[in-house]
Amino acid sequence: MGYYIIEGGPKLIGEVDISGSKNAALPIIAASILNKGITVIENVPNIRDVKMMCSILEAVGCAITRDNGKIIIDATDLQSSEIPEKLMHEMRSSVIIVGALLGRMHECKFTYPGGCEIGARPINLHLEAFKQLGVELCEDNGFINCKCNKLNGTEIVLDFPSVGATENIMLASTLAEGTTYIKNVAREPEIKNLQDFLNSMGASVHGAGSNTIVVNGVPKLHDCTFSIIPDRIEAGTYLCMAAATKGEIKINHVNPEHISSIIHKLKQINCKVGISKEAVFLRANKELISTNIKTMPYPGFPTDMQSQFVTLLSITNGTSIVVENIFENRFKYVNGLIKMGANITLEGRTAIIQGVKELSAANVEAKELRGGAALVTAALAAKGVSMVSEIEYLERGYENLVEKLTILGAKITKQ
Ligand code: UD1
Repeated sequence: MGYYIIEGGPKLIGEVDISGSKNAALPIIAASILNKGITVIENVPNIRDVKMMCSILEAVGCAITRDNGKIIIDATDLQSSEIPEKLMHEMRSSVIIVGALLGRMHECKFTYPGGCEIGARPINLHLEAFKQLGVELCEDNGFINCKCNKLNGTEIVLDFPSVGATENIMLASTLAEGTTYIKNVAREPEIKNLQDFLNSMGASVHGAGSNTIVVNGVPKLHDCTFSIIPDRIEAGTYLCMAAATKGEIKINHVNPEHISSIIHKLKQINCKVGISKEAVFLRANKELISTNIKTMPYPGFPTDMQSQFVTLLSITNGTSIVVENIFENRFKYVNGLIKMGANITLEGRTAIIQGVKELSAANVEAKELRGGAALVTAALAAKGVSMVSEIEYLERGYENLVEKLTILGAKITKQ
């Protein structure tokens, strides 16, 4: 596994372009197999998770061409409805392909994605919803076999507004017979992007952004070209990195509305933040002050920004409390921060952060995507030269991280 060498200290100054959203691209690429034809997706980030999703599509019979940020998917003939075990284990969100395969082929075979670094992440809500749509599920030797003659529209009430379950049900019900009402759904911008994509292929999906999504089943879809929204988590990460180094940056190609809870917290800790239609400007030249954060489903504060903010709060003046409400095990990176001199106490899902004047360099391991981003943020601000290892996790979700940080004046190399 590779590592980053980061010499902390330089303020991040300048402009950076935000890439297409990972969490929008993955379900949209999966959804493209619902169309027995050719789909063109633009503004797709060049990251490992996207490559893995493309590998799954190829494994079931799609032909994929990539050209810069554009992916052309030919799903005219599918040969298999089985998700390769290796890919299922490597990327949890591969489960999103199940809804699409059920919609297109009325069958799918896959293994449980298993636990991961941030929690158990069960898929009970996905499986329960498939059953309600008329799918028969049977477990055999670690594999789950799903089959149905047809999918029937129905009413599904989610126990929790799970992002993945909402998306999977949308995919499974797009070509179903009748209307599906999905209640207590996730309201993340990526869900709206998925709805827009499905509709641009000829689906009839409404309500994304509200509590209920209504899917009127259609018999078939058609070819389309569609563009992915900007990555709000990548945007938030660069804002945090700039704030941690007392820098001054402008992030371009971003939807400020999607990061309003992040901007609100940055303002609370004394950063100056300005917004225009597709850009956000941040200046962090004053002393940063503490605040409290609770992660919540959208439009609340995103769990995917929790770790980057804990890094930031560890060098602000005062005591901050951060509560993680979405995943049960999302503080693993904190040990790395403590190694760098942060004063953080963990009590279950709560982190109590006593701000210190500065962090000092250390050798730390990324362990997972956003925790890894938190450690890179810490290393950029810390005194001395740090090594962040296991950077493959970061490459799952951040396009051209080294290049973008270098443009902003960071001293970072990949080894
Ligand atoms: C998605 C995002 C991830 C983000 C998360 C929450 C993608 C590819 N990933 O993950 O970056 O951190 O939303 O915003 O879009 N749960 C169950 N049973 C289920 C499904 C979920 O108990 O069947 C629980 C999970 O364990 C977790 C919580 O619900 O504690 C939220 O999970 P969910 O919203 O489904 O997250 P993902 O779709 O996995």
